[in-house]
Amino acid sequence: MTLRLVTAGESHGPRLTAILEGIPAGLRIDSAFVDRDLARRQHGYGRGGRMKIEKDRATLEGGIRGGVTLGSPIAIGIENRDFANWSKVMHPLENDPIASAERRVTRPRPGHADLAGGMKFGAGDLRDVLERASARESAARVAGGAVCKLLLAECGIEVASGVLSVGPVIDPESPRSFAALQKVREDSPLRAMDASLEKEMIAAIDEAKRAGDTLGGSILVGARGVPPGLGSYTSWDRKLDARIGAALFSIPAVKAVELGSSIEASRGPGSLAHDEIERGRRGNLRRRSNRAGGLEAGVTNGEDVIAVAYMKPLSTLARGLDSVDLATGEAARAAYERSDVTAVAACGVIAEAMLAFVLADALLESIGGDRLDDVKSRLTAHRERIRKYSRV
Ligand SMILES: Cc1cc2nc3c(=O)[nH]c(=O)nc-3n(C[C@H](O)[C@H](O)[C@H](O)COP(=O)(O)O)c2cc1C
Repeated sequence: MTLRLVTAGESHGPRLTAILEGIPAGLRIDSAFVDRDLARRQHGYGRGGRMKIEKDRATLEGGIRGGVTLGSPIAIGIENRDFANWSKVMHPLENDPIASAERRVTRPRPGHADLAGGMKFGAGDLRDVLERASARESAARVAGGAVCKLLLAECGIEVASGVLSVGPVIDPESPRSFAALQKVREDSPLRAMDASLEKEMIAAIDEAKRAGDTLGGSILVGARGVPPGLGSYTSWDRKLDARIGAALFSIPAVKAVELGSSIEASRGPGSLAHDEIERGRRGNLRRRSNRAGGLEAGVTNGEDVIAVAYMKPLSTLARGLDSVDLATGEAARAAYERSDVTAVAACGVIAEAMLAFVLADALLESIGGDRLDDVKSRLTAHRERIRKYSRV
């Protein structure tokens, strides 16, 4: 792996940190761009009260001088404003025993990390688990992913996302293309791919909220301008489809990932599953469709990279699912703490960050270069070689 992204920090701790290692020197970092993606992650109908408290902003703390990367690890901090309300419980060094006892969590939520994480670390207070398992951590990933997007943009690669479905509300005919993603309205309540469905989606969220329930959904994430030849079929762990899949699966609550239109393709014959090759008017090779989502055998083929991530309904239900109180051994309702009804729109922004990370990693691996100008000139040569190869 050429790029590494490590995050640290608890949901109600003082701050989150992202360290991104492997970005070449000479990349201009626009902190407003990073902040814009952080704000996009906070947006979306169905989010809980936490998002009203936090106004995420990136503090650039290492690896950048005068707005330009140095080639050293990039450190980004994001303050947790809510820490002011939790300092007696979440201070890294000293906590108030009475306040900590009041906030102790002993009724694990089915579907969350609580019980599995408690068993793993032997936590007497499940807060030790849920504070890190919380999707608040994804803000740090979004900050790191925004830097990857800036690198990709220098290389002519764009990344975007949109909401395909919320709960049962979906347009099964919704086109799976980058062009469709470009029509998504950033200022709309859910960043839906089909704006005409937003009313119905909002009604479904309101209904779930009234019932003390939650909803999941799905998002489309894609990239345009990706050069052919990234990733490899030569070894299983170099396959880019697998790496994109793992990155999207790592997003909290994402339980299925699809490349292109592979679920539909799996239900039909091979004659309707693949992207036939033809010769364009100028002798260039091209595809008639992009059902594979821009990847064949783990290698990019020059088409848009397209993936769908499916998010389960969130596991903190206001009405609580059946659980057991670990302190008493008695049956109890699972713990409830301020929570989202759905976070599908935010999931799209996190998916952009994860896809940007994997593509930037694969680009640096195939093209290489310690400085941005080296990366760009090598990429130009790579694209030229592919252009010549594809002219028959
Ligand atoms: C942006 C975002 C916000 C989330 N907000 C919540 C939430 O408010 N309540 C909740 O129970 N789960 C929420 N989740 C999901 C949990 O973090 C996740 O289900 C949990 O960490 C267990 O991991 P798993 O579902 O991947 O197995 C959110 C996920 C994302 C991506």
